Amino acid sequence: LPLLQTSWLARTYHHQTTAASTNDLAIQMAARGAPHGTVVAVETQTAGRGRLHRPWLSAAGKGLTFSAVLRPDLSPQAAPQITLVAAAAIAKTLRSIYGLNAAIKWPNDVLIHGKKAVGILTEMQCDPDRVRFLVTGIGINVNETAAELPSRTRYPATSIALELGGPVNRKQLFAVILHSLENEWDRYFSGRFNELLEELEGLSAVLGRRIEVDCSGEVLRGVAQGFTPQGALRILSDDGNETVIWVGDVTQVLT
Ligand code: BTN
Repeated sequence: LPLLQTSWLARTYHHQTTAASTNDLAIQMAARGAPHGTVVAVETQTAGRGRLHRPWLSAAGKGLTFSAVLRPDLSPQAAPQITLVAAAAIAKTLRSIYGLNAAIKWPNDVLIHGKKAVGILTEMQCDPDRVRFLVTGIGINVNETAAELPSRTRYPATSIALELGGPVNRKQLFAVILHSLENEWDRYFSGRFNELLEELEGLSAVLGRRIEVDCSGEVLRGVAQGFTPQGALRILSDDGNETVIWVGDVTQVLT
C-alpha cells in the first residue's frame, strides 16, 4: 500500500477486486489467524452489509471499502466503542484535510453537511468474556456522483466529491484515514476513552439536538444529552425521563 505511515494497521494488507463483503473476508481471515491490524480492501462488494440487516451499496472503484481485524484484550462490551472511535477518526480526518463539516451520527455513521457519507459495521467473535477478534468494516463514499449513490435510503446519502465539488485521490485519502484510525485506536486501547469522549461530544451531529431514535421498533423522541462513559447515548425524552440507549437507530435529527 503506497504512502502508508502506520506502524501496525494495514501492515498485513490484502486487496482484491471484488468480494461479497469485506467483513466476511476479514472474519474468515481472522478465524485462520490473521494478525492484529490486518486490512482487507476491495473495489466492489456484491453483498455489502450494514447494521440492522441493511445492504451497503457502493459504486465500483469509487469509494473506499475495507475491513480491519483487531485483536485487543477487551471485553465484548467494548465493541460499540471501537466503532465510535473509528467514526471519530474519520470525521476528524475529513474536517482537517478537506475542511468539511463532518460529524458523527451515533452510533456508527459519519455525516457531511447532514448527509451520510460513511458507514461502519463492527462484528466480533468472543470467548466467554473476552474478545477473540473484532472486525471493523468501513464504507466511505468518496468519488460517487449523485446518480451513483443509493437512492431511496432512509437517510440522505452523499460523497466527499459531491460535497467538495470534485473528485479526490482515493489512495491518498486511504493512507491518511488508516493513519488516523491507528492513532485513535491506539489512544483507545491504551485506556484513554474518557479523553476521547469529550472529543466525541464535539464531533457529534446529535448532541443538543432533538432526535428520533428507533429502539427495536419503539420510537423515542427527545434531546440527545451526551454519552455515558461506555459510549451509550443519553436522551432526555419528551416525557421528562432520562433514557440511556445502548443499541438504536437515530432516524431523524429534528431542528
Ligand atoms: C451501516 O451503514 O449500517 C454500516 C455500513 C458498513 C459498510 C462497510 S463496507 C466494508 C464492510 N463490509 C461490509 O459488508 N460492510 C462494511
